[in-house]
Amino acid sequence: MITVTPSGAALGARITGVDLSKPVDPATFKAIEDALHEHEVIVFPEQRLTPEQHISFSRQFGELEEHLRQDRCRPGYPELFVVSNIIENGKPIGSTDAGFFWHSDLCYAAEPSRGSLFYAHEIPMQDGQPKGDTLFASMTTAYDALPDETKRTLHERKAVNSYFAGYTRERNGAPRAALTAEQRAKVPDMLHPAVRTHPATGRKCLFVCEAYTTELVGLEAQESSTVLEQLFEHLKEDRFVYRHRWAPGDFLIWDNCATQHRAVIDYELPLRRRMERTTLRGAAPF
Ligand code: SIN
Repeated sequence: MITVTPSGAALGARITGVDLSKPVDPATFKAIEDALHEHEVIVFPEQRLTPEQHISFSRQFGELEEHLRQDRCRPGYPELFVVSNIIENGKPIGSTDAGFFWHSDLCYAAEPSRGSLFYAHEIPMQDGQPKGDTLFASMTTAYDALPDETKRTLHERKAVNSYFAGYTRERNGAPRAALTAEQRAKVPDMLHPAVRTHPATGRKCLFVCEAYTTELVGLEAQESSTVLEQLFEHLKEDRFVYRHRWAPGDFLIWDNCATQHRAVIDYELPLRRRMERTTLRGAAPF
């Protein structure tokens, strides 16, 4: 029997009483899925998972994505995207700057991800305190709190989501490796509703993000950027945010329709951070 303890913030809950390295029975799995839909981000502390167990538990939710950047995946595991600052043999073992801007995973794809399952292998510690927190914002609560006039502006409006724009956005002045023509062709700019409906809960979710959304279709360029800037400021207000302080063994699941997230990059080598993510396939937003 699992215990679900809400974080006290707009989203987030901690779940104890389940060992994810073992097969999870259907009743427990349903309780986990229900908790995900209600709390949008769920945290399972003190898990001990092999890559196979991480993948196998993730598959209970459905099909998994294989990340576009296979050079950032764990060798031999195309479903395990590595987020890490560690360099081995002169090469990064994973993505060194994932989550620099607020986003939801694969929002630029035709079928954005339903959710992500993120496992903490190594967490940087300084003076006994963990560094490298992750911030999560509730897009249901953020949408509900919008002024009626903004809701009217966004009603049935599409937004342009561009992987290329997000990828090339400057991070600390450091240039990024160019995408190959083949990688670029796989991720054309995508139109999605600026407000989407959650397929399980029916709640409305704000679906524009500072990392990848470049335009609100049908507005003058100036108005489009003004409204987007206002939305990007609004969605990261403290009242919509849960900040996760990591411990090794934490296993988080977040809902990519109902939330956005951003990494706090407040550490550097020799402090090491190593995380691995599976990414659930989703469906076209409506
Ligand atoms: C991500 O955006 O997927 C990574 C978040 C993090 O590293 O905290």
